[in-house]
Formats: sequence, structure tokens, C-alpha cells
Amino acid sequence: MQVQGMLAEGQLQEAADLVEPTMGRTERGSQQGIKGGGPGLYMPVPMRSLAWNMHETASEFAETASKGGVKESYKALQKLQSSCVSYLSYTTR
Ligand code: HEM
Repeated sequence: MQVQGMLAEGQLQEAADLVEPTMGRTERGSQQGIKGGGPGLYMPVPMRSLAWNMHETASEFAETASKGGVKESYKALQKLQSSCVSYLSYTTR
């Protein structure tokens, strides 16, 4: 929601700076030290791959937003958000 607001206001770099450390590969990296494998260690494989996809698409979004194209950023955000929906379908199937 916050990210969508930032895009709507044209604050693309701010959106990138919010998403990369909190959801991107950076965030995934910061969890590696936890019990030698991060939260993913205890996840079923399909769930872990959904989580990895979320981290990847979050970083792709941050990279795209940093470059400054609003349209491209919305496209990248759509990919990121499809990872939320995939997880929802996975849990409610
Ligand atoms: C950007 C994508 C995502 C968004 C916006 C999102 C959002 C949320 C929100 C708002 C909740 C709280 C729901 C509630 O309070 O009832 C939640 C819970 C949760 N999410 Fe996500 N999520 C995302 C992706 C994922 C992914 C990829 C995974 C797993 C790999 C995941 C795992 C979970 C789990 C385990 C819970 C707790 C469920 C529970 O309390 O029973 N989420 N998520």
C-alpha cells in the first residue's frame, strides 16, 4: 500500500529504497545467519520457492524503480504482488 502511494506520487527512488532492504535479496541475505539457513530452512520446498520468488521480484522492482520509469515500475510491482497472490492460492488450495 505504501509502495503504491509512492508510485502514485512519483517517488520511485523512495519506493526502491523501502523495498530492497525490507523484501529484496538484501533482506534474504540478512536472514542467512539465522540457524544456518534462515526462515526458509523450515519451509516446505514449494513455500520456500514462493518466498525466493518474492525476494527476487522485490529486487527487480527496486532496480526498475531506481531507473525512474513509472510505467515499468508498476509492471514490476505487479510481478512482485503476484507472489503474494501465489502464496495465498498455495495456502487456500
Ligand atoms: C509481497 C507479498 C506478500 C504480502 C503483501 C503478504 C502479506 C501478508 C499479510 C498482510 C499477512 C497477515 C494476514 C493476517 O493478519 O491475517 C500475511 C501473513 C502471512 N504470510 Fe504473507 N504476504 C506476502 C507474501 C508471502 C509469502 C511469499 C509467504 C511465504 C513464503 C508468506 C507467508 C505468510 C505467512 C506464513 C503468514 C502468516 C499466516 C498466519 O498467521 O496464519 N507471505 N502476509
